[in-house]
Amino acid sequence: MIFEYAPAPESRDVVDIKPSYGLFINGEFVDGSGTPFKTINPASEETLAEIATATEADVDRAVQAARKAFGVWSSLPGSERAKYLFRIARIIQERARELAVLESIDNGKPIRESRDVDLPLVAAHFFYYAGWADKLEYAGYGTTPLGVAGQVIPWNFPLLMLAWKIAPALACGNTVVLKPAETTPLTALLFAEICQQADLPPGVVNIVTGAGETGAAVVGHPEVDKVAFTGSTEVGRLIAKSVAGTNKKVTLELGGKAANIVFDDAALDQAVEGIVTGIFFNQGHVCCAGSRLLVQESIAEELMSSLKRRLSTLRLGDPLDKNTDIGAINSAAQLAKIRELSSAGESEGAERWSPACALPDKGFWFPPTVFTGVSQSHRIAREEIFGPVLSVLTFRTPAEAVEKANNTPYGLSAGVWTEKASRMLWMASKLRAGVVWSNTFNKFDPTSPFGGFKESGYGREGGRHGLEAYLKEIS
Ligand code: NAI
Ligand code: MG
Repeated sequence: MIFEYAPAPESRDVVDIKPSYGLFINGEFVDGSGTPFKTINPASEETLAEIATATEADVDRAVQAARKAFGVWSSLPGSERAKYLFRIARIIQERARELAVLESIDNGKPIRESRDVDLPLVAAHFFYYAGWADKLEYAGYGTTPLGVAGQVIPWNFPLLMLAWKIAPALACGNTVVLKPAETTPLTALLFAEICQQADLPPGVVNIVTGAGETGAAVVGHPEVDKVAFTGSTEVGRLIAKSVAGTNKKVTLELGGKAANIVFDDAALDQAVEGIVTGIFFNQGHVCCAGSRLLVQESIAEELMSSLKRRLSTLRLGDPLDKNTDIGAINSAAQLAKIRELSSAGESEGAERWSPACALPDKGFWFPPTVFTGVSQSHRIAREEIFGPVLSVLTFRTPAEAVEKANNTPYGLSAGVWTEKASRMLWMASKLRAGVVWSNTFNKFDPTSPFGGFKESGYGREGGRHGLEAYLKEIS
């Protein structure tokens, strides 16, 4: 039964969106030389602001500023760098509501998620790496920073990916040139203001906006010592090629096609919640999303009927409404991709189901969708959809579950639902995935390393391991 709720929108008054934004270089906002572009609210298609495009020459200015600042920043004692990071973390907490509302407006994600998941994790990342800044000698990766880090991030967790990139880089004594995604630049630009507020020395953090060409200029700049990228496997490959044969250290965090595996002894109600969190969190725009449900044949019918009942209660609509579970798809291009792959699922013979769900007239929307009768060769079982679309496959034995789960070019994450600890450990040892969640899904913590196998990329972010990417190897 669906209950009617009165709308409960979060106020937009806490954010002050300027008509146009420049680049953040050497501690100040400056004009970009390229043609500016617009960022929109994907829930309304309203234009939010005009954003500068950084050309190769602008990127060079940013890298020079970062290079100059590196001398100052890397020679500060770790305890002094920590003070700046703690200060940034506290300002993020103080301005959390403003950042969460801005993130939801620019990205389309529900305020419930930006407020309760993204922002607490962003602050936690800065606090966590602030704590490491004066303890690097105990981490086991040396204490020598690399220099200038060129970082390119995607649109699914704009501020959280910024935190994952900037916090460890700065803690280790590096300086940064970061490029946010072109559909979601606003929270990175507000973060630039936070750097000013925290009195961070000029040039330690530089933010350059623009599309793929600007990203290519950042990773290709000869004076960038370290490249960190999160995004599509396709662009990850281009980046791996462009840095091959240079001395740049690289981490790539790419796509995924995670299996969420439910055994017949699992607590089914909890598993249903985990399946929902796995694939419908952030509209499924999650690299580690549980996009393939592998369910043991004997409980498939029961689980599917509970899942469908639960999906009928999800609320889709205004991202700023506190009751909303599913917000807007981030862009028209992403919506087109989700539609194309879903049509392919139907024409390849899988059965498509969505709950009754009215979509708003304006903006980019896609209803929660489940495909049953999926076989391993279907495109919806192989390709990353990056949307609220679940493919369901069945298995009989643990060995079959492992074989199906690993039958993918990706290897980022997996979930296993069983009451039996020995089976859990056996599964975890067999699954070729960087993260295996046990009776939960999409759980994040700054102390825990995250990263993939195979085409999901290389390197780890988060935890002590995340420091390695930003320090020179001990020889
Ligand atoms: P994308 O990989 O093109 O974009 C990610 C970032 O890379 C953006 O900042 C973009 O401007 C930049 N970029 C694009 N071309 C570049 C280049 N040649 N050199 C350097 N930087 C470049 O991802 P896109 O097109 O937005 O999404 C396509 C698909 O990628 C999605 O449907 C999804 O399957 C996957 N994806 C995976 C993500 C993840 O978290 N692993 C995040 C975003 C997308
Ligand atoms: Mg936008």
